[in-house]
Formats: sequence, C-alpha cells, structure tokens
Amino acid sequence: MTKSLQIVRTLSALRAALAPHRRAGRRIGFVPTMGALHDGHISLVQRAQQVCEVCVVSIFVNPTQFAPGEDLDTYPRTEAEDVSRLSAVGCDLVYLPEVEDIYPQGSVTQVRVEGLSDLLDGRFRPHFFYGVTTVVARLFVHVEPDLAVFGEKDFQQLQIIRRMTHDLGFGIEIIGAPTWRDADGLAQSSRNAYLDPAERRCAGVINRSLHRAARRLAIGRSVAEVSDEMQATLRQAGINKIDYAAVVDPDTLKGRPDEPLKPGDPARVLIAAWLGGTRLIDNMDGSRPA
Ligand code: PAF
Repeated sequence: MTKSLQIVRTLSALRAALAPHRRAGRRIGFVPTMGALHDGHISLVQRAQQVCEVCVVSIFVNPTQFAPGEDLDTYPRTEAEDVSRLSAVGCDLVYLPEVEDIYPQGSVTQVRVEGLSDLLDGRFRPHFFYGVTTVVARLFVHVEPDLAVFGEKDFQQLQIIRRMTHDLGFGIEIIGAPTWRDADGLAQSSRNAYLDPAERRCAGVINRSLHRAARRLAIGRSVAEVSDEMQATLRQAGINKIDYAAVVDPDTLKGRPDEPLKPGDPARVLIAAWLGGTRLIDNMDGSRPA
C-alpha cells in the first residue's frame, strides 16, 4: 500500500497528526532539515524508516543559525521538490513551520551547549551552534520523537546535539548516519549548488586530503605533520582560505596533542575550507587501529 505524505504547517496540526501514532505506540523517527533536500537527506530519512514506524521530516530555514551577511535570504528553498522527494520515499509527515511557530513573538529562550559549540566551526561562526541547538531543542519539543537522525557530515553538530539531548534529558535516541558523497568524494550539501564548475571540479580534494590524513595517522605520523599536510594539499589544489584542517578527539572536539596517535586512540579529522564564496566542511574517522 502506498503511504501518503501528510503536510503540516502549524504546531497544533503537527500534534494532532502525531497523536494517533503515539496512542498506537508507534515509534516516531525525526529528521530535521533546512530543505533543499539531496540524496544525503533522503539517506537520513531511510535510516529513520529502518528503525521507526513513523518518519517525520521538518523543513525550516532557521534564521538564528545565520549571522548577518550570511546566506539566509539566498539559501535554496525548494519546497515543492522536497515534498515530492519525501513522498516518493514513503515519508509519513513533513512539518513546515513558520518562523512564529518556532520563535513565538517576544521569544527570548536560547539553548547553548557551552564548550563544544565554541571550538572548530564555533570559532569562525560564533552564532551558529547556539542557533542550531536552540532550534533543534524547540523542534524536539514540538515533534517529541523517539529517535532523531543527523548526518555525520556535520560531525560537530552531531556531537553537540548528542550532548544537548543528554544534558536536557530529552530521552531521544540520536543516530549519526554516514555522509552521502558524490563520485569524487565531495560530501553532499545543499550549499554545493553555489559552486561554479571549476570550484566543483576542485572540491573533491577536501575528501582526498581527509583520506590521506587518516592513512598517515594510522601508520604513526604525528598529528602536527598530518595537519600540515592537509593544509599543503588543499593549498596545492588552489584552496587558500582554510578555516581549519584539524585532528581532534571525537568526544571533546579538542585538538589531539601534536604527536603520533597511539594504537587504539580515537580521532576525527576535519576540514573547513572555502572555494570562492562557498564554505565547505567534511570529516572522517582518523582513529589509529589498535
Ligand atoms: O543540519 C541542518 O540542516 C541544520 O543545522 C538543522 C539541524 C536542521 C537545524 O536547523
């Protein structure tokens, strides 16, 4: 039987739509998005569907995670295409709230995960994670899912949301899903649409640098050497604005000491770099095998 996608735009309609599922004891999985859905988002939906009876996706371009001068106004908005993609994969419900539903008039409450939010991307986009945790906390309260799926592409975001969920006792299982990539390794992102053809051809170097870094860490090269090599590879490819090319502890997100990892040491390698006016991020496991 083909399921039909329910489209709801207000909190009261959302609660009414989910109530029968809750009464029936169905497990609700949730994928928050900002829309402009690509295959990576669809893979998150499919991950939620594997483990839940009901899948809810939200589409909300969250103003509080954009700083003045960032791309809030030009961020791609493709509602009709998004709805048809969700319908095609059998998603149950899409929540398309208005700003006033998420941020009621006069709203002043923020959710901040101190520490983790101030490292890596937080150093370059200080507003960003406070906006993300504020909106995700509100969406969690609206949807009340059993489980939520976030992409590992935004690894720092995933770790911050795990911490927020733990600290606030939401009782929601957080699943990290693998990054969806183009054939040359470029992590799929709605912002890839901003790349011109030359930038797009160059962009695969980010993922190649991460792979090389992970291989070099695995054979005992020092963190300092590997970080310098990532920077050099990116620069050779013509990428000159690099926010970071880092090897960090996956839990604390703090830089690993500048020495070789010991066998079994966990690590994450991450890059944030600019191709023209587009900021791209990617990461992968850099743990040294035991
Ligand atoms: O990853 C995103 O698309 C956004 O940061 C999120 C989690 C939907 C919050 O606006």
